[in-house]
Amino acid sequence: MKLEDIKTVGVVGAGVMGGGISQVSILAGYKVITRDLNEEILAKTKDTMMNGRFGLKGAIERGKITQEQVDKALANLTLTTKVEDLKDVDILIEAIGGGGAAELENKDLKFRVFKELDNIVKKEAIFASNTSFFTIRDIAAVTNRKDRFCGMHFFSPVGVMKVVEVVWTPETSKEIIDIAVGFCQKVGKVPVRVKDVPGDTGFIGNRIYFAAVREAQKVLKEGIAEKPEDIDAVMTMGFNWPIGPMMMGGGARSGWK
Ligand SMILES: NC(=O)c1ccc[n+]([C@@H]2O[C@H](COP(=O)([O-])OP(=O)(O)OC[C@H]3O[C@@H](n4cnc5c(N)ncnc54)[C@H](O)[C@@H]3O)[C@@H](O)[C@H]2O)c1
Repeated sequence: MKLEDIKTVGVVGAGVMGGGISQVSILAGYKVITRDLNEEILAKTKDTMMNGRFGLKGAIERGKITQEQVDKALANLTLTTKVEDLKDVDILIEAIGGGGAAELENKDLKFRVFKELDNIVKKEAIFASNTSFFTIRDIAAVTNRKDRFCGMHFFSPVGVMKVVEVVWTPETSKEIIDIAVGFCQKVGKVPVRVKDVPGDTGFIGNRIYFAAVREAQKVLKEGIAEKPEDIDAVMTMGFNWPIGPMMMGGGARSGWK
């Protein structure tokens, strides 16, 4: 398989991340099939893609893209509730949540979903998880395509954040990682190769970021800062962080409306 063989992208989960990954992929000219659980969620995804803070309508208004380009991109998008519609995709990116309102992600759910997808999607297709924390090798292990399985960790909002962590396991073939890296470049991102490790620790970004969050919580607990807002003020205005570690102004899961 070569990068040029990737024509159709499957996205599983049409939330904050899946919607964004779908958006950048259709804009790059890929045919995209995005699956979520019901029509209501899919309608919301389409609306965010068009009218959200980082949506296509705003991009037209800011002169970043033309109406014709948007029409062409949207013609490449299929939103579906049927898992069978993913059977012929060339690359599949999973971006499912935890299955509950508050839960960001759930490892057992990812196991179940990938087991099901492994039986449905053609065996040559590359599988990638957008998980922020889970060890990729554990998820790959439920499939019969460990050599074609990697992590592809986009950041939120996907349309804006430039970097993607492309995570390789001891079983991932070099050819597949090269294709995943090339795919990220095609959708306008800067891929960084990351070695997978046991322990669900996250990769480069979240591992470092959450160390800072833990430290911020200690700073508050020890009474060094009077209130969480003060910690965010120091880090945003002192270090130019876009949001502070206490995330008082909303974080990456706010939906980017
Ligand atoms: N939000 C972020 O900042 C961020 C950043 C990077 C990575 N991630 C990771 O991306 C994944 C998704 O996060 P999110 O913020 O987009 O979550 P989200 O809750 O916004 O969206 C998840 C979607 O998955 C759907 N879903 C659940 N089970 C499904 C199934 N079996 N088939 C299809 N769809 C299903 C839900 O209905 C929901 O719409 C998580 O693994 C998360 O850790 C999140």
